[in-house]
Amino acid sequence: MTKEELCRKAQEMLKMAYIPYSRYPVGAALECEDGTVFTGCNIENAAYGPTNCAERTAVFKAVSEGYRKFKRIAIATSGEKISGPCGVCRQVLNEFAPNIEIILINKNGETKEFTLPELLPHSFGPADLT
Ligand code: THU
Repeated sequence: MTKEELCRKAQEMLKMAYIPYSRYPVGAALECEDGTVFTGCNIENAAYGPTNCAERTAVFKAVSEGYRKFKRIAIATSGEKISGPCGVCRQVLNEFAPNIEIILINKNGETKEFTLPELLPHSFGPADLT
């Protein structure tokens, strides 16, 4: 899948976001090593704390379907700013794909690309527990 196709999948998920509180939609498209793509959106909650970010929705969908090897994730917002994933999502990505490529997309379709080590240096992960 091309970068543009993955970005479009993330942008398409903006409309699925359940965001009655923040009104801030986020969409994600997670590409597995075999090319399978899992999408996600943010899902908010009246108690606020249980809110799930778009990136984690995509990761949890994938893992629950037996996929654990991830290559890239595209993350779209509807803001002007090209925003990065929150710290919790960085940590969750690190569990399964410490070198994953991250593509960020703003509302104008402008992108920035990072690797997870750039966004989560000196991380804590599974190897630390061995
Ligand atoms: N959000 C995400 O979906 N991903 C992030 O990485 C940052 C924040 C969501 C959570 C909440 O629904 C809204 O954006 C505002 O914080």
